[in-house]
Amino acid sequence: MNEKNLANSQLGALVYDPAPESASIARIKSSYGLFIDGAFTEASAHEHFVTLNPATEEVLATVSRASDADVDRAVRSARHAYEKVWSKTTGAERAKYLFRIARLIQERSRELAVVETLDNGKPIRESRDIDIPLAAAHFFYYAGWADKLDHAGYGASPQPLGVAGQIIPWNFPLLMAAWKLAPALAAGNTCVLKPAETTPLTALVLAEILEQAELPSGVVNIITGDGSTGAALVEHPGVDKIAFTGSTEVGRLIQQRVASSAKHLTLELGGKGANIVFEDAPIDEMIEGIIDGIFFNQGHVCCAGSRLLVQESIADEVLRRLVRRVEQLRVGDPMDKNTDVGAINSAAQLARIQELTAFGEREGATRYSSACTLPDKGYWFAPTVFADVAQSHRIAREEIFGPVLSVLTFRTPDEAVAKANNTNYGLACGVWSEKGSRTLWVAERLRAGVIWANTYNRFDPASPFGGVRESGFGREGGRQGLEAYLNV
Ligand code: NAI
Ligand code: MG
Repeated sequence: MNEKNLANSQLGALVYDPAPESASIARIKSSYGLFIDGAFTEASAHEHFVTLNPATEEVLATVSRASDADVDRAVRSARHAYEKVWSKTTGAERAKYLFRIARLIQERSRELAVVETLDNGKPIRESRDIDIPLAAAHFFYYAGWADKLDHAGYGASPQPLGVAGQIIPWNFPLLMAAWKLAPALAAGNTCVLKPAETTPLTALVLAEILEQAELPSGVVNIITGDGSTGAALVEHPGVDKIAFTGSTEVGRLIQQRVASSAKHLTLELGGKGANIVFEDAPIDEMIEGIIDGIFFNQGHVCCAGSRLLVQESIADEVLRRLVRRVEQLRVGDPMDKNTDVGAINSAAQLARIQELTAFGEREGATRYSSACTLPDKGYWFAPTVFADVAQSHRIAREEIFGPVLSVLTFRTPDEAVAKANNTNYGLACGVWSEKGSRTLWVAERLRAGVIWANTYNRFDPASPFGGVRESGFGREGGRQGLEAYLNV
């Protein structure tokens, strides 16, 4: 052990040898077309953009930008497939395709994990152990529903909506594609999916998987592009349903555009989740839960526990231990299997995090940032905890969507509930206590779609997920997730 390593280990930061995952399995092509009517085709206007590896700023691939004409082609293809094929395919047959897609995702899981990490910047440990297995699990889960829709609680023979336009964000690219496609297909709809502009690659690998699964042409169309492509999909008269996950700002815009039409709509938007910790909670588990709640996926998580509400009697100890734990987080190469916190997804997102955290300091909060060494190239932000945060501070009100935790305190359960609910959002909360009765008392009073007890960021395809208020409406996952794609 050299001197620096010794100094580090005395500080509590264990030194690990590099354990890089190999990128060779990714086989990323230099350019990709649009996946329309079962084949990759060139964009009509021949417009392109590039997707980067945010950890290195290297260009990974050139991707097509779908124009209004391409959106129209994709929607027509989905309509044709709906009328001629998919609406006439039995639930049991649809299930076979979904099971096949799930198995192919598992077979190609290492490739998908590597592509996801390269394109998004998230640690390989997370894409390998969470994103990709959960994506497969969603297809398995909804495959099981495809021939049992009569028993889903929506009456006898519930009908699909038709063509679903699905717009997804960059924080969980393949997983969000699975959340959207699996229930839509199980319910008998056809789809036009638009991935986010900074992370289109795993959706394009998924298109190859759909070909491999011999899914009938046009049942799923995958078109890449930016907000204008998304807007064209929202506006298209041939779309029966829009499902959107992304920012509250764009969600609001989409809601206005759809309001004057007969389109169905579900929105899964931002959040400012409160993680509430009581003095009787087991402290070691709680510290890990707080860390996972905010630093998982660099904090690019709509349900992140970005506001810590800690009972005053334990606030000093919790803060001390949190700051120590943050120093131990390994920040850096997302392809290293020991990395805890990877790269920020884009320069724009980094700028937004920097702006909001600068505001936090200016408004009087106390900042603790990890002293970790950040790579020279790429987009990086040191894990940060803010203490002495007031409810009026921007860092307590706005979604930062980065590795930044705001710590507030409370004295009584009533105060904890009042502070947790003091937000326009309502996606997720966590409650930590040894006492079940207290947890239930608090959970009943929280205005949020998802509440975790003594854990955080747990996802399961059988469990419905979604928000209230400015976090959106509609549920994804579980039996409830079918409702968004059925005429009920
Ligand atoms: P965004 O909401 O602009 O992007 C999400 C998706 O919507 C992308 O596929 C994008 O191309 C598409 N889109 C953009 N404008 C559209 C329009 N007018 N019509 C239809 N589709 C459109 O999010 P962005 O700009 O990437 O991030 C901005 C902020 O939003 C982040 O800093 C974060 O706070 C929040 N955000 C929240 C997410 C969540 O899951 N809660 C996910 C992504 C972003
Ligand atoms: Mg990228």
